Amino acid sequence: MISKPLFGSQGEGILRIEKVTDIPWITSSHGVYYLQRFISCRGEGFSDYRVFVINGQVIATMRRRGKSWLNNVARGASCEQVTLNMEMNALAIEATQLIGMDYAGVDIIEDGHGRLYIIEINSVPAWKGLESVFDGNVAQLLAQDVVNRYILNK
Ligand SMILES: Nc1ncnc2c1ncn2[C@@H]1O[C@H](COP(=O)(O)OP(=O)(O)OP(=O)(O)O)[C@@H](O)[C@H]1O
Ligand SMILES: [Mg+2]
Repeated sequence: MISKPLFGSQGEGILRIEKVTDIPWITSSHGVYYLQRFISCRGEGFSDYRVFVINGQVIATMRRRGKSWLNNVARGASCEQVTLNMEMNALAIEATQLIGMDYAGVDIIEDGHGRLYIIEINSVPAWKGLESVFDGNVAQLLAQDVVNRYILNK
């Protein structure tokens, strides 16, 4: 399993629990456990997908390849621009809408059977890695969306 801090970021504080005796090592949780089943990703090595959604539209996507099972850019994962299939895009859009976010970075892992799992929906996603493989300006797109919807009421 994976144990995540309630307020974590960039892979910090995430632990992999491989046996029951690993659990007492989660000392900083104050009795609150946020656990996910470990998803083994499809293909060689370790990878997941980051889908950046603004106002119900996917604006950029990338695959991150980690040096270990942590695929965070801050942990040295490399970024690769990919075009995702409709299923993955639709999943990210639906997830963002379900929790009522104007924009989000949705992290998805595909398992060995091709099943898709959302592992995280980021409300304050970093986009340094994404912009290194994306031919656009994320800040500009976000600002434009705010102006369109909340100032011009488009
Ligand atoms: N359930 C899981 N199964 C396998 N690997 C996981 C799982 N959850 C997380 N990971 C790995 O750990 C990395 C970080 O996890 P997650 O995206 O949940 O938190 P975070 O990146 O620390 O938070 P933030 O994106 O806000 O900085 C993921 O990119 C993935 O590589
Ligand atoms: Mg993440």
